[in-house]
Amino acid sequence: LDIDPSKLVIEKTTTPKSLKKPEDLVFGANFTDHMITVEWNATTGWGEPHIKPYQNLSLDPATCVFHYAFECFEGMKAYKDKAGQIRLFRPDKNMARINKSAARIALPTFEPKAMLDIIAQFAKLESRFIPEQRGYSLYLRPTMIGTQKTLGVGPPGSALLYVIASPVGPYYPTGFKAVSLEATDYAVRAWPGGVGDKKLGANYAPCIVPQREAMSRGFQQNLWLFGEEEYVTEVGTMNFFVALKNKETGQNELITAPLDGTILEGVTRDSVLALAREKLAPEGWKIEERKFTMKELAEASAEGRLIEAFGSGTAAIVSPVRAISWKGQLVNCGLKDHEESGELTLRVKQWMEDRQYGEEEHEWSYVC
Ligand code: COI
Repeated sequence: LDIDPSKLVIEKTTTPKSLKKPEDLVFGANFTDHMITVEWNATTGWGEPHIKPYQNLSLDPATCVFHYAFECFEGMKAYKDKAGQIRLFRPDKNMARINKSAARIALPTFEPKAMLDIIAQFAKLESRFIPEQRGYSLYLRPTMIGTQKTLGVGPPGSALLYVIASPVGPYYPTGFKAVSLEATDYAVRAWPGGVGDKKLGANYAPCIVPQREAMSRGFQQNLWLFGEEEYVTEVGTMNFFVALKNKETGQNELITAPLDGTILEGVTRDSVLALAREKLAPEGWKIEERKFTMKELAEASAEGRLIEAFGSGTAAIVSPVRAISWKGQLVNCGLKDHEESGELTLRVKQWMEDRQYGEEEHEWSYVC
């Protein structure tokens, strides 16, 4: 049996939470009144979907998620538009991606449209938690875990798909400010044939030590490189974009690493590329998904050709980059000292938000 929205059972809380002031919200620290749960087992498939009061899970200590990391997740957001309607942003992408992640770790897949229907009902039910101001939204966290009680290493015979929701403001507590990065030279995030392109919890825990190391030396985030060539891949938990002037032709180029299996298939990444092809290409920009090295960036910076760099992700949308520490040098990413963002990064942010908040009608915006 697949997930069936017509079987949805809704149990409302009798103890509604009080709302935090939007400006006091810390990313991922507060949760709404309810959650979605759908259980699966190998013999009967997906059970009844539930929306029920937010509550603890009760799991046996032998449950396979705790031992072999049978866990994948999604990050997506619900926005409130000026008319008070709730809008999801390209939620079909998140449903497709969690199915790909789940399949890779022997967890079950589901009918994307059915789950989206339930998530839309859930987002509407939690409407009071969604601040109206630009920059604020409801972060939705679909999660799937293997729940079979066994230390045997094998495909989980049971699983739980759940969705929790957290009202959020700007991702970084400092607000929309440029971050400085340290290029990590002693660890790799992902490799060809690995699972770095899947949204598995297991890909995230190993990011903390390099990030903390970077922090200890005064940088906010680390930059992930790959191989002897030192290809630039991702920044912290975000995709990475760089704008530079081509050495030979002088043409402006917006570049991000290609989806070669080592890069998370970011929904924001895909959206930025589509918007850039629509809006920047006619202005003479070349939009490229290709490999590029730290050396290429350092050279562009030294020659004054590095225009801007930014990270992209659902949580922060775009995150401007000031500089990258690499091999003892500080590679400036084009910002003047007093600037917190380049013009291009700001334009991208604006284009994205216009669509997310429904100010520009677009097929990416899904009205719940
Ligand atoms: C993002 O949305 O950029 C992320 O990957 C961060 C999330 C894991 C909190």
